[in-house]
Amino acid sequence: MSSFNFQKVRSDFPVLSQTVNGKPLRYMDNAASAQVPNLVIERGSEYLKKEHSNVHRGVHYLSQKATSAYEAAREKVRRFINAGEAKECIFVRGCTEGINLVASGYGRKFINEGDEIVISQMEHHSNIVPWQMIAEERGAKIRVIPMNQAGELILDEYENLLNEKTKMVAFSHISNALGTINPAKEMIETAHKFGIPVCIDGAQAVPHMRVDVRDLDADFYAFSGHKMFGPTGSGVIYGKKEWLEKMDPYQGGGSMIKTVTFEKTTYAGLPEKFEAGTPAIASQIGLGAAIDYLNSIDLDAAFEYEHELLAYATERLGAIEGVKLIGTAREKTSVVSFTVADIHPHDIGTILDQEGIAIRAGHHCAQPVMQFYDVPATARASLAFYNTKEEIDALADSVKKVIEVFS
Ligand code: ALA
Repeated sequence: MSSFNFQKVRSDFPVLSQTVNGKPLRYMDNAASAQVPNLVIERGSEYLKKEHSNVHRGVHYLSQKATSAYEAAREKVRRFINAGEAKECIFVRGCTEGINLVASGYGRKFINEGDEIVISQMEHHSNIVPWQMIAEERGAKIRVIPMNQAGELILDEYENLLNEKTKMVAFSHISNALGTINPAKEMIETAHKFGIPVCIDGAQAVPHMRVDVRDLDADFYAFSGHKMFGPTGSGVIYGKKEWLEKMDPYQGGGSMIKTVTFEKTTYAGLPEKFEAGTPAIASQIGLGAAIDYLNSIDLDAAFEYEHELLAYATERLGAIEGVKLIGTAREKTSVVSFTVADIHPHDIGTILDQEGIAIRAGHHCAQPVMQFYDVPATARASLAFYNTKEEIDALADSVKKVIEVFS
């Protein structure tokens, strides 16, 4: 049994102490968006009350306050993911924007007619569509790493896909639809043997495991603030400076230039080159506060506790007749996707909502995963360190009620 004090942590999240439909809220939709602790709420409020101004533009007091808070948040990100330099951490609106930045900035420079981009069968649309768009623009081809029935990538086939035409490998560290933890370090090493850079969708990993971008040797690593207990509108694309320096900006505008004439513009250095316009200052400062929060709790114990919750949820749901678990990889994080006989997951989600239980029902922006398992959608409970076994019991009991209602 983990010694993690989940009750103490729960009390840090005010949203969790409300009732929904007359029942205590049981929030199990953390893979879609995690809740926000008091520390982040208070930091955001303090910023708006006392520090708000635009960044990198003013010589006045408030602008300097805002700029130093914004840059301090970048340094917190750097330390949290162990990037070499803060300027390698580009602030973006979220993981999706980060991947689009790489697909566009890297793709336009390094992907040409006949080249190949390797992605995986279990990707979120945000790690499929940007690559399809750039592939179409540049005349390149998408190739897909297959997976097995458990939802694990088939690594031998992965290696067979790589060749001198491969210009990028992109895959998720953890699948949002299945919970599979991919062996990112090993897969990156394989790609690097062929001299191919790797872009990781880390949206589901950063809130659930220690991520060290230098140990992974990732070329690019994208994640969103709102899945790691920060505000929406915050996020990061980490990129090795050797790549970022060679890439052209993703968007043009204020702040990202060195000089502008009507004939020619020269660009600012990193990270400004990739942060055109006024950024999401309050959100990124909130992301910094979310990192402060994660650093303030016993994170390793929290992750171990999440693992216990995963095992418990797998056991409780798996024991219900008619429930089929989708995604049974050996290495998994706290996501439990399931179907219940032929009941549509939206009906499951709606009935659970009546019980105060929040899960996600749908294709989870991963339609190719649904196609692989030949289901239109799944119900998905995604757990965080503030969830409890009692909530999982309530989930299992409510799933049984759903079965009764439909039988
Ligand atoms: N990517 C988010 C999810 O998995 C929205 O629910």
